[in-house]
Amino acid sequence: MSSKPSSPHHDHIPVLGKEAVQWLDPQDEGTYVDGTFGAGGYCRLILETSKCNLIAIDRDPEAIKRGKELEIEYPGRFQILHGTFGDLDILLEEAGITEISGIVLDLGVSSMQLDTPERGFSFRFDAPLNMRMDQGSLAQTITASDIVNTYDEEKLASIIYKYGEERKSRWIARAICKQRMIAPITRTTELVSIVSSVVRRRPGGNNPATKTFQALRIYLNDELGELERGMAAAERVLQPGGRLVIVTFHSLEDRQVKLFFKERSGRTPSGSRYLPDTSDLSRQPSDLSRQPSFSMLTGRAVPPSEEEILSNTRARSARLRAAQRTNAPAWDQKVAA
Ligand SMILES: C[S@@+](CC[C@H](N)C(=O)[O-])C[C@H]1O[C@@H](n2cnc3c(N)ncnc32)[C@H](O)[C@@H]1O
Repeated sequence: MSSKPSSPHHDHIPVLGKEAVQWLDPQDEGTYVDGTFGAGGYCRLILETSKCNLIAIDRDPEAIKRGKELEIEYPGRFQILHGTFGDLDILLEEAGITEISGIVLDLGVSSMQLDTPERGFSFRFDAPLNMRMDQGSLAQTITASDIVNTYDEEKLASIIYKYGEERKSRWIARAICKQRMIAPITRTTELVSIVSSVVRRRPGGNNPATKTFQALRIYLNDELGELERGMAAAERVLQPGGRLVIVTFHSLEDRQVKLFFKERSGRTPSGSRYLPDTSDLSRQPSDLSRQPSFSMLTGRAVPPSEEEILSNTRARSARLRAAQRTNAPAWDQKVAA
């Protein structure tokens, strides 16, 4: 790496960064997209690995500020865009960027988001129950506090079960609804103590509120919807041979990525939700014989090395999957609004 002016986040070590860049395999003069800029760890590695052009996207205005600093460090080669990767095809089109050779997504929240108490992502600090990734946007006005104070018990239980895979979701929802009759729940620590009143901490186990916090964050930021739209958008913009590399942090995301790649690489028999419904006789025959739009590069999901897990416990649940675009048409062509 060449030496660059130091910044507070220069020493940020991204999870599976080396592996992600190896699988992306950036080439000189190619154009690449990092859909989750974060602290820019992947971006720096990509820019130092080849003389490529790189576009980064992030929905968090704080990340955009850091991206602007990187634009100055790599003039003409790097550009940061504010928005969601679910809209990456629209963002790239608006910026006049075409012929994409590779896209990387490193999902979830950044260390900066988790470690900034007032963002309200972490149960480790007492802070407002916020959890919005894009705090400045009109597109994201409701907070985690709004959800716990206004959703009915059944809906809360279903969110906590579905996105947190929390078996005690009903008990937690009931405790939340009971507590908010006394006073609105506005702080992270209030939610932690409500959850802790019904979920016991196991010796050496995670904080009992871990799954509930994960569930609210995923639901509020529509993280799984973003992932679905992002993968479909990547399929539309990648040129043949272009690579899509995705790093996930929990089983819900990893399952979704695995299923997408399995289907798009033609390894799923009919009946999948991505395949056309053959009962509709009005469909054109070409709809019924979709060609694989991706071929897999990774077999099983790639985990972090033992060494990385030892030096960064947050890495332990990370998994990487990568695939390469074929020259078949994208399965999900965008339908004009
Ligand atoms: C795990 S961090 C990425 C870290 C980055 N790879 C690095 O090396 O610093 C995830 C980042 O993605 C952003 N993000 C999450 N979902 C997003 C979405 N749907 N669209 C755009 N950015 C998103 C978050 O705001 C966060 O900054």
